[in-house]
Amino acid sequence: MARINDNYLKLKAGYLFPEIGRRVTAFTESQPDAAKKLIRCGIGDVTEPLPRAVRNAMHDAIDELGERETFRGYGPEQGYDFLRKAIAENCYRHRDIAIADDEIFVSDGSKCDTGNFLDILGPGNRIAITDPVYPVYVDTNVMIGNTGEADENGAYEGLVYLPCTADNNFVPAIPEEDVDLIYLCYPNNPTGAAATREQLAAWVEYAKAHQAIILYDAAYEAFISDPDVPHSIYEIPGAETCAVEFRSFSKNGGFTGVRCAFTVVPKVLMGMTASGESQALHPLWNRRMCTKFNSVSYPVQRGAEALFSGEGKAEVAELVAHYMGNAKLLSDACLEMGLSVFGGVNAPYIWVGCPQGIDSWGMFDKMLNEANVVITPGTGFGSAGEGYFRISAFNSRANVEEVCKRMQALGL
Ligand code: MLT
Repeated sequence: MARINDNYLKLKAGYLFPEIGRRVTAFTESQPDAAKKLIRCGIGDVTEPLPRAVRNAMHDAIDELGERETFRGYGPEQGYDFLRKAIAENCYRHRDIAIADDEIFVSDGSKCDTGNFLDILGPGNRIAITDPVYPVYVDTNVMIGNTGEADENGAYEGLVYLPCTADNNFVPAIPEEDVDLIYLCYPNNPTGAAATREQLAAWVEYAKAHQAIILYDAAYEAFISDPDVPHSIYEIPGAETCAVEFRSFSKNGGFTGVRCAFTVVPKVLMGMTASGESQALHPLWNRRMCTKFNSVSYPVQRGAEALFSGEGKAEVAELVAHYMGNAKLLSDACLEMGLSVFGGVNAPYIWVGCPQGIDSWGMFDKMLNEANVVITPGTGFGSAGEGYFRISAFNSRANVEEVCKRMQALGL
């Protein structure tokens, strides 16, 4: 009989969002009338239409594919040069960060890339993750066999958990111990916290001193409003020798359904072979992409490129302003209710302390059953998330205003 990957059996009941989906389905089946009023502020999924600049570029690209003279088949596995250049110039070189076009690898998502990156990293790494954390970092390490079993709190043997609490502003302290891989996500999902330049510089210093690699997820960088918060880890000198950066068009360009993202792998970033020699990661990631991926479709890459046009930039700014306006409304509503509120300033997530005597899933159930609003329980992101819930600001303005009213009517 064919053997399965037993590591999958170590995974807890389910990835957080499918588990939320299961509970919401049970609710809609048992209360069909209330379900008609349901507002979803759980998963951070965009709601506003795709920018016009993107649609026009995609239409044009499709027309090109419809003509013999301009038809294209397979594209470069790393992404088309036009998009790699637009990204490197607009996201990096315009900020005086020396990233070359061929250090950009276009992909279909940062979720996929953070998981796939483990393909080129060996076994035996000591892996640090924050708690709470975006669950994909943990689950993909479980799947590939980098952990033991989970304990009763859901913490996996073999991972180093870095607690993020209100006391450290949800940016973890530098560990005392030696780790080889560190997952950092700033602006943070789920807490909405931003890391300062000093905090990132301390992590870069640690990584260089320990020859560790930082896997830096900056999927929410477009939502930064504070001018002192770095948009890229490469704003910290030396980060190119110790960090990979993941970025996405999902949230700023409304691409969650369209799918386009990119990963930056600097050529000077090194890892170590089993025999102790230094080896650049760039050719390994390139090899991985050439073998397992055919990049993103041509119309989608043209659409992503259009986000960097004058019109595209203005439309992205409007989308960001819309979602951050929602974040402010949600944040103010929770503050008026006397709840402790974090995030929502440099990120489209509000991280809220549960009212006295209610735990995270209790709050999820209360919001679902009494307010008909889906939120995300903090504990789904790790045990340090217990006592919190996350509200996503990705929604229409009308829905957000209604959520604020319904929360206030709960009389917490
Ligand atoms: C979230 O809600 O945490 C995100 O939407 C998940 C994701 O981007 O994959």
